Amino acid sequence: MRLFSSLLLASLSVSTVLAADKPPSCDLNNKCPEDKPCCSQYGQCGTGAYCLGGCDPRSSHSLDSCAPEPICKSKKYTWDNLDNAAKNDKYLGDASKYDWMYSGDPKLEDGNLILTMPPKSGGSLFANNTTFAFILLSDVKDEIDYEFVGSDLTEVQTNYYWQGVLDYNNGGKSKVDGEDTFGDWHTYELDWTPDSVEWKIDGEVKRTLKKSETFNATSNQYQFPQTPSRLQMSLWPAGQASNAKGTIEWAGGEIDWDSEDIQKEGYYFATIGEVTVECYDPPTGANVNGDKSYIYTDSAATNDTVEITDKNTVLSSFGATGTNMTVSSSTSAQSPTSTSTGKSDTVPEVNGGSGNEPGNSNGSGSSGSGSDGGSGGSDGDSDSFSQGGDDSDNNNGDGKNAAASPSERVLKGSFSAVLVAIVVLMTM
Ligand SMILES: *[C@@H]1O[C@H](CO)[C@@H](O)[C@H](O)[C@H]1NC(C)=O
Ligand SMILES: *[C@@H]1O[C@H](CO)[C@@H](O)[C@H](O)[C@H]1NC(C)=O
Ligand SMILES: *[C@@H]1O[C@H](CO)[C@@H](O)[C@H](O)[C@H]1NC(C)=O
Ligand SMILES: *[C@@H]1O[C@H](CO)[C@@H](O)[C@H](O)[C@H]1NC(C)=O
Ligand SMILES: *[C@@H]1O[C@H](CO)[C@@H](O)[C@H](O)[C@H]1NC(C)=O
Ligand SMILES: *[C@@H]1O[C@H](CO)[C@@H](O)[C@H](O)[C@H]1NC(C)=O
Repeated sequence: MRLFSSLLLASLSVSTVLAADKPPSCDLNNKCPEDKPCCSQYGQCGTGAYCLGGCDPRSSHSLDSCAPEPICKSKKYTWDNLDNAAKNDKYLGDASKYDWMYSGDPKLEDGNLILTMPPKSGGSLFANNTTFAFILLSDVKDEIDYEFVGSDLTEVQTNYYWQGVLDYNNGGKSKVDGEDTFGDWHTYELDWTPDSVEWKIDGEVKRTLKKSETFNATSNQYQFPQTPSRLQMSLWPAGQASNAKGTIEWAGGEIDWDSEDIQKEGYYFATIGEVTVECYDPPTGANVNGDKSYIYTDSAATNDTVEITDKNTVLSSFGATGTNMTVSSSTSAQSPTSTSTGKSDTVPEVNGGSGNEPGNSNGSGSSGSGSDGGSGGSDGDSDSFSQGGDDSDNNNGDGKNAAASPSERVLKGSFSAVLVAIVVLMTM
């Protein structure tokens, strides 16, 4: 698949820590219980939205606990309205209705999508050193990234992961020509094929990763991203104190929430122009038995364990799961409970990170703590900033947003993430 996006990156920030009861956590060695069978992107068990994008079949109760993922759809996205986007406590997997699923409080301005992060009163706050990322992420944590760290606006970081295994040698940095990532529009492209990944900025290839370079002779495996992925764009506080030390260092240190920008405008933001997704045909040898969805046929989660099927991707309620997609909404706790309390076991919290953060030694990987790289090591806290997003709804601060012109540096902090509700490409 190829993916282009014009981005104007403003600054970033965020914060807040909420205490909350957590749903059971899960990883490769601790699968979810039968009544909350789906292991979310951040390693927590539940039903409903927990079974959608990000649901890791390897750590879920059974391989089919997660709902099938909608197939890649080629499309150019512009931002005249958000009619094609559903908030995470509304989306049930219907990719024919919605292209995007989001949390937080994205805004539209001059045809651009603005991800914002407003501050919350009373929280622990961190700024500058936050991160905007633009990634392809599969349910089994294959990942291809562009990451923009607020403390370094002249370079863009590129990275990839295979099955969530943290390998600090995977990362790279690329200089951006002309003005920096904040002051100027740039086009970022990921061209992902079965044999390579190319990162291109403004049309120029900045980095190439060949599958052949990723071969691990010990395990006899290519440690190359090879499973159906979603596009995820998010702005998040990597420098949050509750995160792993290495992650904070990567982000550039803890955030100063009292910066000039914050005082002036009240939030940090990233501006996204248009996004184009172009799907390639499935590779020769792919297991194709339909044209609607992807499922995994084995927990090895390699390219040959993905099947393209005609299976439905839509859950009937927030109580439904991949193994029973038609549980009626009147049965038990089927409607989403408030996510702002962090207690929902039907709508997972959204942490802007992928779960595979540099410097997080507790990260996933085959060994186990799986998905929760991002929230891992800091369980309660880092999740909470995704709550920050939800809270910002009740939290005012928003009405006055409009002022932010993309070329101004604005502060206000709110967290906001946009996730593609469609699966982007199957590279095999
Ligand atoms: C925030 O980052 C910008 C860009 O690197 C830098 O100029 C500024 O000094 C930083 N603010 C603080 C408080 O470090
Ligand atoms: C290669 O695979 C072995 C066995 O799974 C693993 O221990 C090792 O860490 C892998 N090497 C890299 C560079 O990931
Ligand atoms: C970002 O982190 C760097 C390095 O730790 C620190 O010097 C700087 O003050 C931080 N910026 C902000 C805004 O806190
Ligand atoms: C799905 O759940 C409903 C309601 O609990 C139940 O009546 C139905 O038998 C279940 N279907 C399957 C296939 O388990
Ligand atoms: C990793 O996890 C252990 C045990 O959960 C914890 O004590 C440690 O602080 C974590 N380390 C990091 C870097 O988060
Ligand atoms: C999966 O990867 C292997 C190793 O590169 C390759 O030989 C095979 O053709 C791939 N299978 C599919 C279905 O892409």
